[in-house]
Amino acid sequence: MTSVAVVTGASSGIGAATARRLAAEGFHVLAAARRTDRLADLVAEIAGAGGSATAVACDVTSDESVAGLAAAAAAAPGPVTLLVNNAGGARGLDPVETGSVGDWQWMYDVNVLGTLRVTQALLPALESSGAGTIVVVSSTAGFTVYEGGGGYAAAKHAQTAIAGTLRLELCGRPVRVVEIDPGMVKTDEFSLVRFDGDPDRAAAVYAGVPDPLVADDVADCIAWCATRPHHVNIDRLVVRPLAQAAQHKVHRVG
Ligand SMILES: NC(=O)c1ccc[n+]([C@@H]2O[C@H](COP(=O)([O-])OP(=O)(O)OC[C@H]3O[C@@H](n4cnc5c(N)ncnc54)[C@H](OP(=O)(O)O)[C@@H]3O)[C@@H](O)[C@H]2O)c1
Repeated sequence: MTSVAVVTGASSGIGAATARRLAAEGFHVLAAARRTDRLADLVAEIAGAGGSATAVACDVTSDESVAGLAAAAAAAPGPVTLLVNNAGGARGLDPVETGSVGDWQWMYDVNVLGTLRVTQALLPALESSGAGTIVVVSSTAGFTVYEGGGGYAAAKHAQTAIAGTLRLELCGRPVRVVEIDPGMVKTDEFSLVRFDGDPDRAAAVYAGVPDPLVADDVADCIAWCATRPHHVNIDRLVVRPLAQAAQHKVHRVG
C-alpha cells in the first residue's frame, strides 16, 4: 500500500521541492499550506510527472485548520508514515534592542507552535503506521546566533528543542525524529518574507555567493533521511553551501 507523507509549507521553496521529491520516491503526498492556488499547481505538476498528491489548505497557527489536516490524513489512501514540519520562516533582521514583538510572535507561532500543533495532530497516525518518521526543518540558526537574528534563532532553537525532546520521549515507540538544519538556501520567498517584500534587501543576502544551496538540495537531504531503513535514525543533518563555512563566514565574489 502507498505510504503517505504530509509536508507543511508545501506552496513554495523547500516544502514544494520536498513534495515533488517525495512523490517521485513513491509517497502519496499531502501538500499543506495556506495558498491553495499554488498547491493546486503543484499537485497538477506532480500528477503530470506520474506521482500522486493532494492539496490541503492548512494554516499551522490554527488549531481548527490543523485538525482539518489530520482529517485529510485519516482519509488519505494509505498509512501516514512521514511528516515534514517545514512551514516557517523569518521576519526582520533587527537587533534585540529594537526588534518587533509582533515579528517575534509570528516566528514563534509559525515555526514552533506550528510544529507542535501538527506533530500532536499526526502523531497517532504516524505511530499506528508502525514505522513513522517526523522531520523537523529547523536551521543552523537552531544552534548558533548572529546579530539581527535573535528572533529567528530563538524560534529555531525552540524548534530544535522540540525535535530533541520528542526523540527522547518517543524512544521505544515506532516513530523516529529527524532534524534538518540548513544554512543559506536560495529560495524565492524566504528572504522576501524576512524583509517585508523588499527585493533589493532579499537579493543582497545571496549577492556574490557562488552556488548557494537551493530547495532541491534540502529536499534531497530530507528524502535521504526519510528513506533509510526505519531502524536508522539520522538525528540531525546540518547542510550548508560550500561557500558558507559558518553563519558569519561566507565567501562572496565580485
Ligand atoms: N531559505 C533558507 O535559507 C532557510 C535556511 C534554513 C532553514 N529554513 C527553513 O526552511 C523552511 C522553509 O523555508 P523556505 O526557504 O522554503 O521558505 P519559503 O519559500 O518562504 O516557504 C515557507 C513556507 O511556509 C508556509 N507557511 C508560512 N506560514 C504558514 C502558516 N501559518 N501555515 C502554513 N504554512 C505556512 C508558506 O506557505 P503559505 O504562505 O502558502 O502558507 C511557504 O510554503 C522554513 O521553516 C525555514 O525557516 C530556510
